[in-house]
Amino acid sequence: MEQDIGKILISERRLQHRIRELGAEISRDYAGKEPLFVGILKGCFVFMGDLMRHVSGYCAVDFMAVSSYGNRSITTGAVKINKDLSEDIENRHVIIVEDILDSGVTLNYLMQYLQVRRPASMEIVTLLDKPSRRQKPVQAKYVGFEVPDKFVVGYGLDYAERYRNLPYIGVLKPEIYENENG
Ligand code: IMP
Ligand code: MG
Repeated sequence: MEQDIGKILISERRLQHRIRELGAEISRDYAGKEPLFVGILKGCFVFMGDLMRHVSGYCAVDFMAVSSYGNRSITTGAVKINKDLSEDIENRHVIIVEDILDSGVTLNYLMQYLQVRRPASMEIVTLLDKPSRRQKPVQAKYVGFEVPDKFVVGYGLDYAERYRNLPYIGVLKPEIYENENG
């Protein structure tokens, strides 16, 4: 598996350091508010697990699963909800947890979809941000790292369901997706 990675972009150590900072920042901003963390599956699961352990105070978690039509490197714009929330978000302080904010199509759709349920507030925490690829005006309040326009995997992020178990963020060698996409 490691031979498919061209370069380690963000080491395990840097990830853990930054996630600790994000947790502290969120804890301060939401003190006394009991936020609801909404993880977007599947990519969020590693990041969210680590982030939560640096959040102090009462909070709750829930999950949504979405898929965008089209393949991994090209997003078409249509978003399908595969699993909706099980919690009621009206009057709750919602924090959406994403692995990577890329075109913004997914989160733009999701924010509108959830806004009608009238949460008290709604913000985004994303581990990675690729601002150069943005098509929709989505802004994350909390960003772990800005990344260049390269396809990255690891720490929850996949290519064709692989590499989620890598403990770091790596750049996938282009020949991997060129080969597998034909
Ligand atoms: P967006 O709707 O284009 O912002 O896409 C967000 C989703 O696309 C993320 O939640 C990821 O699942 C996927 N994605 C975008 N860029 C990458 C990448 O570099 N590696 C792995 N997944 C990615
Ligand atoms: Mg994904």
